[in-house]
Amino acid sequence: MRIVHDGDHGIDDAVATLFLLLRGDVELVAIGTVHGNAHAAQAGSNALQLIEVAGRSGIPVAVGAARPLVQPADVTGLVHGLDGLGGQAVPHTAGLAEVSAAEQLVRLARAEPGELTVVATGPLTNIALALLLEPRLPELLRRLVLMGGAVEHPGNITAVAEANVAMDPEAAALVLAAGFPLTLVPLDTTMATWWTADDVARIAAHGTPLTDLLTGVLAHYLDFYALQGGAGGCPLHDPTAAVVAVDPSVVTRTATVPVGVELAPGRTRGMLLVDRRPFAVPDPAAAATEVVLAADRDRITGQLLDVLLR
Ligand code: BDR
Ligand code: CA
Repeated sequence: MRIVHDGDHGIDDAVATLFLLLRGDVELVAIGTVHGNAHAAQAGSNALQLIEVAGRSGIPVAVGAARPLVQPADVTGLVHGLDGLGGQAVPHTAGLAEVSAAEQLVRLARAEPGELTVVATGPLTNIALALLLEPRLPELLRRLVLMGGAVEHPGNITAVAEANVAMDPEAAALVLAAGFPLTLVPLDTTMATWWTADDVARIAAHGTPLTDLLTGVLAHYLDFYALQGGAGGCPLHDPTAAVVAVDPSVVTRTATVPVGVELAPGRTRGMLLVDRRPFAVPDPAAAATEVVLAADRDRITGQLLDVLLR
């Protein structure tokens, strides 16, 4: 399976990238980075650091959009630290691609029509820009798997909005309306998929350079989620999307429904508009989307640990 990972390489994006780098039946073809958990350039450096610690080389990393399409950039470093990796980032620049992440994606998709799966785990600015550069992008990809949004679960950046959608709602709206073969993995699934304190202890005890980095990076994340009742564990937002992309059999409940994005200013901006009415109401702003509402927590966390501790 050939995958392009587009992310805002914070902590859980890093776990997703490591999984995609190390899983034997996946070829991670390229990485694109975007503003979000960290600045896009910092996220690019982080991606290179992850490739190095995984013992891999020659995987192009392209830095993408530094800000959302319409609203100002908002990189706070609150959840992931200002370096995106909880203070563990080491600057890396050698090997950054000379094209932007959107250009890289368009080139790759044109070169291999129908072959690539894109796993997007940050704001959707790069995917939207790629779509503007190449309107046939939805037909050129095998599948687009997005971590983002909240359906029945509360939001995490506002009462109703999830971070990846809310950090560029216009980009998310463009992508969701475009007719991609699309799987959306929202908070409903990712907030139910945690590494427990025991899982984290297993990683810490493993003692390889990769797990040492992971342990340092996770420490920051655990502190954040401890404040939310995490008890020594953390949710696996982006890694869950990566596992779903590679092994859809972990999914236990889906709905295929039109999904759009609230763009109006105010307290509901960035909220998903999920039309669950039993009759189809055509809406050009909301294409049919496979929404993952639940998945097998044990299989996902187990697959991640198997790959990362191998
Ligand atoms: C998403 O927001 C980011 O903080 C995480 O990396 C994840 O992609 C969860 O809402
Ligand atoms: Ca992310």
